[in-house]
Amino acid sequence: MTESPQPGDLSFSPERMREIGYSFVDAIVEQFEQVRDQPAVCRRSRAEMEALFREPVPETPRDVNDVLSRVVNDVFANSAPLDHPRFFAFVPSPHNFISVMAESLMAARNVFMGSWMVSPGPSTVELVTIDWLRDLCGLPETAGGLFVSGGSMANLCALATARKVKLDDDMTDAIAYGSVQAHSSLDRALRVLGFKEDQWKHVETDDHLRLDINALRTMIEADLNAGLKPFCIVASAGTTNTGAVDPLNEIADLCVELDLWMHVDGAYGAPAILTKEGKEALRGLDRADSLSMDPHKWLFQPYEMGCVLVRERSHLLDTFHVFKDYMQDVVGEEEEINFRDYGVQLTRNFKALKLWMSLQVFGLDAFREAVDHGIQLARFTQHYLESEAKRDRWEVVSQASLGIICFRYLPPGIEDEQAIDAFNLALIDAMYDSGYAMVSSTLIDDRPVLRFCAINPRTTEDDIRSTIEKFEEMAIDT
Ligand SMILES: Cc1ncc(COP(=O)(O)O)c(C=O)c1O
Repeated sequence: MTESPQPGDLSFSPERMREIGYSFVDAIVEQFEQVRDQPAVCRRSRAEMEALFREPVPETPRDVNDVLSRVVNDVFANSAPLDHPRFFAFVPSPHNFISVMAESLMAARNVFMGSWMVSPGPSTVELVTIDWLRDLCGLPETAGGLFVSGGSMANLCALATARKVKLDDDMTDAIAYGSVQAHSSLDRALRVLGFKEDQWKHVETDDHLRLDINALRTMIEADLNAGLKPFCIVASAGTTNTGAVDPLNEIADLCVELDLWMHVDGAYGAPAILTKEGKEALRGLDRADSLSMDPHKWLFQPYEMGCVLVRERSHLLDTFHVFKDYMQDVVGEEEEINFRDYGVQLTRNFKALKLWMSLQVFGLDAFREAVDHGIQLARFTQHYLESEAKRDRWEVVSQASLGIICFRYLPPGIEDEQAIDAFNLALIDAMYDSGYAMVSSTLIDDRPVLRFCAINPRTTEDDIRSTIEKFEEMAIDT
């Protein structure tokens, strides 16, 4: 049956919707089913993609199955699957089926999450889910937060709140500090907020690439003596580069001593708090004035889902609440939360649903195990490189930390550091070309290294072994 949509009303009969829906579900299930057999890498030129997609906007209807197969075969086939078990690059996003279905439900109901008046049920689910994350991170009951698009937006909201609370929005001579390993979204957030480049100072790191607390103290003291106004320290709870965790308790002590705001960027690493090992690594996280954490990274949710938590919920309100006359109908009672007052967006979708549903269906323990699996896989990688693979060929450059490990290959007979750098970059290139695994590089002490972020619960030790072996074969051919 190929009933066309009615022009102008953009709808289908229930039977046709079911038929279409089932083929969409088939496409979704096939993606989950087949991801392991797909290339982990996607390298295409702009010209190739333009040739596939550039066309005038279609004036007349096309068959939905044709459009769907084009999406599967042309659009999605030309994107890297970030949930591939051998996608080790950047921060993978190994999402889950329940959350994908929840996203469709959310879109179907199209809840407006800006005002309690139109979404009391969904708003309460959102509040409960935020409180779950708050409690898992050990923040007090006064803390509240907001689901946002991701870590960048969470960092922006947190720093806007810090600016409001500590500076009353007067940015003159104000300085924020973070380590040289802090994420680029912080640079961007501070720039967007109107801080100049020299108002965001990068502190050196110690041997484990964690913020050096003594260097920070010296820097702050010098700035105070120069009449500047330190107001915020950003601690990383899992740097993107190496998974390093800054000394959270020492930073919290310094913030208390000097009356500074402590923001913790746990966009990637904070979910490790679910596990025994992560809890230990993240001691002091609960002392944050604000915290970013991204369910779309290590809580297995599809994009876009970040979360900003603030120790005093009212500080978010002080920062973002705006009233206009046309909103008088949607003010509501005091206990009725209007999420528009807690962040930048007025119109917002129901982000919590996917996390709430997947936690309901799988249970927190499954999430705990899934996070722990990533921590253990990085450890396994280190063990394998140091003791099982061709051990004298591999150098572990940063120890396994929160699911991340960096290492490099030492080609026999090559001593020159620049030649070793070039060799490692060539290995990554060869792996790209093979499509077998997606591995990215980063710089540690200005030297390129291979970096694994192994947070996919469907990744196995065999995936790690076979990827390293593939590198070793490529090294022989290079
Ligand atoms: C530590 C850290 N902070 C912030 C971000 C930015 O998050 P998003 O890409 O979700 O905006 C990332 C992204 O990888 C990250 O690893």
